[in-house]
Order: sequence, then C-alpha cells, then structure tokens
Amino acid sequence: MPTDPVLVVHGGAWAMPDDMVDAHIRGVTNALATGWRVLDRGGSALDAVEEAVVIMEDDETFDAGRGSFLNRDGKVQLDALIMDGATLRAGGVGCVEHLRNPVRAARKILSESPHVYFVGEGAEKLAAEHGLPLCKNEDLVIPREVARLREYQAEAAQHGNDLFAPTISHDTVGAVALDRNGNIAAATSTGGTLNKAPGRLGDSSLIGCGCYADNLSAAVSTTGWGEPIMKLVLAKWTADRISAGNLPEWAAQEAMNHLKQRVNGHGGIIVLNPQGHFGVAHNTPRMAWAYKTVQKQEAGIAREA
Ligand code: GLY
Repeated sequence: MPTDPVLVVHGGAWAMPDDMVDAHIRGVTNALATGWRVLDRGGSALDAVEEAVVIMEDDETFDAGRGSFLNRDGKVQLDALIMDGATLRAGGVGCVEHLRNPVRAARKILSESPHVYFVGEGAEKLAAEHGLPLCKNEDLVIPREVARLREYQAEAAQHGNDLFAPTISHDTVGAVALDRNGNIAAATSTGGTLNKAPGRLGDSSLIGCGCYADNLSAAVSTTGWGEPIMKLVLAKWTADRISAGNLPEWAAQEAMNHLKQRVNGHGGIIVLNPQGHFGVAHNTPRMAWAYKTVQKQEAGIAREA
C-alpha cells in the first residue's frame, strides 16, 4: 500500500535578525512547495530533498549557494550532502567555490560515482564532467554578506569576538522526505560559518554529522555551529535513538539537549522516520522550518528556543 508522503525543511538555526524573518519563512515555504510537487506526483524522497534544497540554495536569504556567509578571505566556500535511506548511498562535496548548487553535485556523486565524497577542485571537476555549470566565486558573493563580514571583522579586531556565540551567523539549509514507496532521504547544504578559515569543513557535508538517512531509522538534517555537531556525530546519534524505538519529536529535542549539555553546542535539527512521524527542535533564538503532510502544512520561526 502506498505511504502518505511527508516533507520537512529547515532554513538554518541562528539569531536571525527581525528584518530577515519574513524572507526566511517565504524561502522555506517555496522550498516546501517544490519538494512537495515531486512527492505528490510519486517522485522519490531523494529527488524531493534535492529539489527543495536547490530552491534554498538559489534564494539569497539563506546561507547556502549564492548569498552565503563569507569566509575570512571574503570568499564563498560551500559544503553539501545528500543521502538515500533505501540504499545508504550518499554524495557529499566540501569546500567548493564555483558551484551555485552544491547539492546537485552531491547528487551526481551519489548517482554516478562509486565514491561518496569529493572536495574542492576535484568536486568541481566531477560536477562539470556531469554537465553542471561552474561559476566565478564572485557570482556567489552578495553586498549584504560583504558588509556583514566587514562589520564582524572590524568588531573582532576591536573587542575580540566569540566566533561560535549563538548570535553569530551560522546558518544552513536542509530537507528530509518520505515518499509514496516508504523510502526516506535527507539533504543538507551550507556556506558554513561567517569568517571561517579557508578550507574549514563543517558538519553539513559529513555523513552522520549534518545529514543522515536510513530506512531502518530516520532521515535527519542538522544546522548550527558545526564543530560541536561533528564531535557528537549528531545526525547518526539521533537516528540511533529512533532505531532504539523513540519517536522523532522526542529524539529531536533530546539531540538538542545532548548538544548543549555535552559540548555546549547550539543549532537545530529536523528528523523524520519511515512511518511519517517527524520532529523539529533547536536551541538557538530562531530557526526557519516548514513541513507538509497530506493533511497539513505549516511554516514558522520560533522566537524563543
Ligand atoms: N552547520 C554549518 C557549519 O558549521 O558549517
């Protein structure tokens, strides 16, 4: 019997300023609509999460694709991962500088390559060989982010700055989906943290850290300060709670408690199991999220964690 599809997306957990709230809600709602069209016509969870994430990479509101936070050198450097819960196939790219849609390159790796992970020029070469267009890094940089980096660096030079305070920008986008065949998938894409060191890789593109999917447990996408998330392998940690018999609502909240208590981390998470139960949680001031089931659709940004 066909399963009712479910799609959950997030647009990053951080102290997003008031004037960016509406754009975030619009953006996650657009991503939801695009991913849902795939599921609604019987498409795969894998295609749905890819298409939903592409919409957010293309939207300058988010820290993914064009408009991402800049690294210390003023460049955009992107990471992404996509994973198929039915087969455990995955594709990841790290530190790419010339791709508008790193999740598309990640999907090519998943579908066309025996490998799981490519970084830098090698990832871009593979993407180009599979027909994805390359762009200049300047094409990914927008004035808002140039100003944000300048302000951050000026402030840090004067007073020092806690790079990982929850008020500092470290956003990310992601999606988890359940399709009519009962398969789940997850994808995560990011520009990483503001003022990051060139070559620094975050959690988002690492299997089990920023993203995970297994039909035997759950599909998970995380957002937030990547280093603590990596240390806990948080997406897999959460999926393991689901295979132990817990519900995603509980596991999502428990993951945030674990992140805070164990490594003083902050961020957000979306979790979906193959039965269609899902959880959304964060311990940052705000996180953009949206979900759709056959019965209901909602989008929001919590004001308080
Ligand atoms: N979670 C995004 C990053 O730390 O790179």
